[in-house]
Amino acid sequence: MRIAKRVARGDEWAMLLTCQSGYETFLARELEGVFVRVAERGPGWVRTEETDGRQPTGPKEGGEPGAQGEKAPQASAPAAEAAWLGGLAFAHLSLLAPVAVRGESVNALAQGVVDFFLASLRGERVETTWPCVWRGPQEIVGLGRRLGSVEAAFGELLGKKLRRVAKLAVGNVQPPASGLRHRAAAGGAARGLFVFFTDFGRALVAREAWVHGQRRMADDDLAPSRSYLKMEEAYGVLGREPQAGETVVDLGAAPGGWSYSAAKRGARVVAVDNGPLKGGALNHPLIEHRLADAFGFRPSCAMTPEFAAPGGGAVATGELADWLFCDVVEEPHHVLKNLVGPWLEGRWCRRFVVNFKFGRADPLGLLRELRGAESAFVRHAAWFAVRHLYHDREEFTVVGETRTE
Ligand SMILES: C[S@@+](CC[C@H](N)C(=O)[O-])C[C@H]1O[C@@H](n2cnc3c(N)ncnc32)[C@H](O)[C@@H]1O
Repeated sequence: MRIAKRVARGDEWAMLLTCQSGYETFLARELEGVFVRVAERGPGWVRTEETDGRQPTGPKEGGEPGAQGEKAPQASAPAAEAAWLGGLAFAHLSLLAPVAVRGESVNALAQGVVDFFLASLRGERVETTWPCVWRGPQEIVGLGRRLGSVEAAFGELLGKKLRRVAKLAVGNVQPPASGLRHRAAAGGAARGLFVFFTDFGRALVAREAWVHGQRRMADDDLAPSRSYLKMEEAYGVLGREPQAGETVVDLGAAPGGWSYSAAKRGARVVAVDNGPLKGGALNHPLIEHRLADAFGFRPSCAMTPEFAAPGGGAVATGELADWLFCDVVEEPHHVLKNLVGPWLEGRWCRRFVVNFKFGRADPLGLLRELRGAESAFVRHAAWFAVRHLYHDREEFTVVGETRTE
């Protein structure tokens, strides 16, 4: 066992970024597009080494929290400097300045991670819960079991040295661990311990990470489609979810996973699709099904009187719905120009979740279009984020808020 020297000593852009397995090439291209050099990649991960002399700029998104907006609380130098990471679409978790720990056995690896962790504490006081996150490619048969064994051995070793600190470890970077040095669900800088196994004998470990907001969601027996999971995940990236009494227009709604997700929170939904609703969305008292074309649908006719918010409370002047959901299977350029464009320009909604299918189109080209000067998101959103979600396939999900002025 030994702790290898820093992966790229003195290079603050040395990172290990995870993504959905099979999408490493796209993540690598995204990184190269912002002048970050890719050194190595494997299933579901990319390691970067150094820049070509220029500082990474990150993709421009309309004031995306994490990219330019909110500051990461108490983020230390690498995390604060890596705020541009918040603009990446394919990255899920980015380990900052990771160190390689190598070992032939479970115990050797666990001891290596403990040594790294203890050395990195250097007088740091750990008073609250802290994320202790262990990941690795699911494709490598047996690696999951080894990872679990090393994690357990690490917990025991750390418990012997620092019992109180070990007890405060939590296995993820999500709520309810409030007070942590990270921005939880919506993404941002996190401090704790992050371990990623690239193979049986090597783990990359870091104290700082950028959390991009994706996560695996639990299914609901009544949800009529797997798409339901995407919407549940999207709320986390947005940092908000529909509230009771809010209004939602769901374009391309059938069989109703997204509509069901909003209705189960008490929101009133107009579900627009010529296809049938199913499962928990069928005959739901808060879901009104409209057989109509999403592109021709205008929010002025969205709410029937009995559906409109009582007393107009939830629908402010100039806004006809609290939420726009859009999941139509259509060519993305067409959706951006002819559907998202009028909705955002007209400020017909306060918040939006829009899914774009890139299918055979080049996703990097689509990303450029979504972030280009002519994009409705850039022109009309207060902020937005593009993510390749854990539950997305060949598609991006864009979440954001419209301008209020
Ligand atoms: C991926 S599915 C939506 C799944 C849905 N979000 C859910 O959670 O169950 C896409 C839907 O878009 C609908 N669609 C495609 N073009 C449409 C259009 N022009 N107007 C309305 N719906 C459309 C299809 O009928 C299909 O039901």
